[in-house]
Amino acid sequence: MEFPFAEPYRIKTVEPIKRTSREERVRIIAAAKYNLFNIRAEEVYIDLLTDSGTGAMSSAQWAEMMLGDESYAGASSYYKLKDSVREILGFDHFLPTHQGRAAENVLLSALVGPGAGGAGMLVPGNAHFDTTKGHIEARGARAVDCTTAEARDPSSDYPFKGNVDLELLESTLKSRPRGEVPLCILTVTCNSSGGQPVSMANVRAVSSLCKSRGVPLFIDAARFAENAYFIKTREAGHAARSIREIALEMLSYADGCTMSSKKDGLVNIGGLLCFRDEELMRKAMTYNIMYEGFNTYGGMAGRDLGALSVGLREATELDYLESRIGQVTRLGGKLEGYGVPVLRPYGGHAIFVDAGRFLPALPREEFVAQALGIEAYIEGGVRGVEIGALMADRDPDTRENRYPALELLRLAVPRRAYTNDHMDYAAAVLGSVYERRDRITRGYRITREAPIMRHFTVELEPVK
Ligand code: F0G
Repeated sequence: MEFPFAEPYRIKTVEPIKRTSREERVRIIAAAKYNLFNIRAEEVYIDLLTDSGTGAMSSAQWAEMMLGDESYAGASSYYKLKDSVREILGFDHFLPTHQGRAAENVLLSALVGPGAGGAGMLVPGNAHFDTTKGHIEARGARAVDCTTAEARDPSSDYPFKGNVDLELLESTLKSRPRGEVPLCILTVTCNSSGGQPVSMANVRAVSSLCKSRGVPLFIDAARFAENAYFIKTREAGHAARSIREIALEMLSYADGCTMSSKKDGLVNIGGLLCFRDEELMRKAMTYNIMYEGFNTYGGMAGRDLGALSVGLREATELDYLESRIGQVTRLGGKLEGYGVPVLRPYGGHAIFVDAGRFLPALPREEFVAQALGIEAYIEGGVRGVEIGALMADRDPDTRENRYPALELLRLAVPRRAYTNDHMDYAAAVLGSVYERRDRITRGYRITREAPIMRHFTVELEPVK
């Protein structure tokens, strides 16, 4: 007899979450000017806004918090983290930072400048995350998205939609003289293409292309363990290998990595910037000291360094990953069971609801995915995040709204925080909105917006 799946942990501490009534939620979302970021977290029942920093730490991590060494320089917590970084990620040199975007800031400060040719530098990769792109563009360089064409077909079940199109990468690398492409960034898994993994074969090929042009390859390792899990379960030849072996091989092809440890570091705050080459780390150190803190704490408390040293090990345990990815898969399956259109294959950290197919009659000028996010909140207190025209901002030159190919509502699952019952509830809420989708005929209009990254602070009103 095969036993049903069960989580590889039990619960020691619980945090009550509050249910609100539909009438309350209608008032709350109106008072929040129809922006889900403006709602107080305690007014959300199931919070799927992000998987970043929202996970639950283990008893071993909490124990490490108490052992935290808060010395300014050379704390023992730093050395514990150094051991984990070497063992799990395979890098001898690293700088702690306060989160992922801070690691990007330090790295790009060291590598990206105006360039000699006057045309600006290029930083190719697979759909860079927003903050990465921001740090590249703020320095006058351009982020070149070389993601494989398969990623653009929402119904294709291609197993590695995070892969780089190698021809496109090669032509990008060759389009500028050496030195004008200061680095290539490969994001695993690729959040911007739907939490989709990159295959080992692709990492290897990207690495050898970069090497042939003398371009350093950095991996954005925010979700490196989830990527390793997908390699193990989807790519031929890896089934019998451990997650740690796979992760080490994957990262061995890179010259360094940035990491938001708020994801696969299983902590609530923190980041890492790792290097193969000591000289390059020394160059970055100056910026780390300026922006983050001294090189043995980098903006993190000693206790947080310690918790991360344990989190990196726990995130690479197979039974944890089976439970983690299994829970996201369960949410996707339940949603599809209700007929809700979602991106396939399911992402590692999130399910992306295809709001364009969900609400086909709504004009895109009325912010379709935002409208769906608001309905999900009103229906059952479930909070997702819009990945659509609001997030896409206006064109910097014409100031017209930019409309991305897909209007998505991302339901990101915090690690170890919710039960499968919570996933079933969230799916039923979306299912219930889906049943009444024909009656959702109006979207939203902007009443106030910031010039960039407007989705965080935008204010909206229903179209009359
Ligand atoms: N890289 C990736 C792939 C990310 O997903 C994120 C954050 C970052 C870098 C930046 O890291 O937040 O620690 O500064 N993603 C979060 C999300 C915010 O909701 O997807 P950070």
